[in-house]
Amino acid sequence: MNRLIGNIILVILLAIFIVSCDGDQIMSSRDLENIPFNPEPYVVDVPDGFPILEIPEDNPMTLEGVELGRRLFYDPILSADSTVSCASCHFPELAFTDGLRRSIGISGQQTSRNSMSLVNVGFYYSGLFWDGRVQTLEEQSLHPIEDPIEQGNDLDALIEKLKVHEDYAARFRMAFGIVDRSQINRKLIGKAIAQWERIIVSGNSRYDQYKRGEISLTDEEDLGHSMFFDFDDGFKDAECNHCHNVPLFTANSYHNNGLDSVGNDYTLFKDIGLGINGIENDTGRFRTPTLRNIALTAPYMHDGRFMSLDDVLNHYNSGIQPARNKDPLVANLEISQESRDALLAFMEALTDTSYLKIPQVSSPF
Ligand code: HEC
Ligand code: HEC
Repeated sequence: MNRLIGNIILVILLAIFIVSCDGDQIMSSRDLENIPFNPEPYVVDVPDGFPILEIPEDNPMTLEGVELGRRLFYDPILSADSTVSCASCHFPELAFTDGLRRSIGISGQQTSRNSMSLVNVGFYYSGLFWDGRVQTLEEQSLHPIEDPIEQGNDLDALIEKLKVHEDYAARFRMAFGIVDRSQINRKLIGKAIAQWERIIVSGNSRYDQYKRGEISLTDEEDLGHSMFFDFDDGFKDAECNHCHNVPLFTANSYHNNGLDSVGNDYTLFKDIGLGINGIENDTGRFRTPTLRNIALTAPYMHDGRFMSLDDVLNHYNSGIQPARNKDPLVANLEISQESRDALLAFMEALTDTSYLKIPQVSSPF
C-alpha cells in the first residue's frame, strides 16, 4: 500500500516536472520584454537606373524584420501539415521559380498556374500575381498560406503554432517590438515576409555590364539586342521592348500576347486572367513577366505551356493566335533562324544570379 502511494506520488511529481519544463520553454511576457528591441535599418542596394524601391511607411526595412521574413519563407511550418514552404515553389537557384509547368502544393495538389519569379518583385507596383489581383507584398504573402492548394493552412492556426514555437516569439519581438506573444498576428507575418522579398534584387547581368561599359556583347547578342529594341533598320523590329521594357524587362502592363485562338468569343479563355476585374476586354490578359533571368525560369507563360525559350520563340515567330483583344504589337515575326538565335542569345544575356550572394537571400535552415 505504501509502495503504491509512493508510486502515485512519484508519477504526480514527474507530471509536475514535465509540465513545468514545458512551461520553461515557452517564454513569458516578461522574458520577451527583456529581449532588446533595437532594430537595425536594412538598406537595399538598388542598381543604377532602377526605379525607386517604395517601402511602405508602416513597414520600414530592418535587419531583424528581414531575418524573420526569411525564416518564415523557408519554413514548412506555414503549411497545414508542415510539408510545404514558400520555397517549395520558389527555389532561389531558379530565380525563385520551381521548374514545373504548374506548381505542386499541399497533398500533391497542382496549382492552376506557373510559379512566378520573385527577383525584383519589390519594384512591381501595378498588381501582383498573373492577374494583378493583389496590390502589396504585405497582403500577397498571406494568400499562399490560406490557399487550399498551396499551403492549405488557416492563419489563426498558424499564429497559434508560432506563439508556442521556441524561436519565433523572440524574433517577432526583435523585429516589431511585441511585448506579448499574443501580439503575433497576420499583419506582422505579412510585413516580415514582404521586407525579406524586397531584398531580392538583380541587376548585374551581361546586359547590365554592357550598359555600364564594362564588357561588349557577342555579335549574336548584339543582333538580338538590336532586334529587341529596334536599333537596326536592317533587321525586323521584334517589338519585345514595348512590353518587356528596361530596366526591369517588364512594363508590368497586362496584355493578350496571342496564346489562345478565341476570336470574338471570350468564353473560350480557359483562364480569364485580368478579366476577374469584370471588364470584358481584359479577359485573357495577363501581367507581362520580367525577362530578367528568363533562361532560369522555364516552363513559360501563366500556365507553363512552353517548356523552352525555343518554344516561346516559335510562338512569337509563327504561333500567334487570333483574339479580339490580342495586342497589335504581337504578330507572327516570321524571322530567320539566325535572327531567332540572336533573340535567344540576348535573352540569355539577362541571366544574373548575383542575388544569391546577398546575405539573407538563401535558406537559414
Ligand atoms: C504550391 C506552390 C506555391 C507556394 C507554396 C507558394 N507560391 Fe508563390 N506563387 C506560386 C504560383 C503558382 C504563383 C502565381 C499564382 C497566380 O498568379 O495566381 C505565385 C506567385 C507569387 C508571387 C507573385 C509574384 C509577382 O510578380 O506577382 C509572390 C510574391 C509569391 N508567389 C510569394 C510567395 C510566398 C511569400 C509564399 C509563402 C507564403 C509563396 N509564394 C508560396 C506558387 C507557390
Ligand atoms: C504586347 C506585349 C508583349 C510583347 C510585344 C511581347 N511580349 Fe512577351 N509576354 C507578354 C505577356 C503578357 C506575357 C505573359 C502571357 C501569359 O502568360 O499569358 C509574355 C510572356 C513572355 C515570355 C514568358 C515569360 C515567363 O516568365 O513565362 C517570354 C520569354 C517572352 N514573353 C518573350 C518575348 C519576346 C522575346 C518578345 C519579342 C519577340 C515579346 N515577348 C514580345 C507581353 C508581350
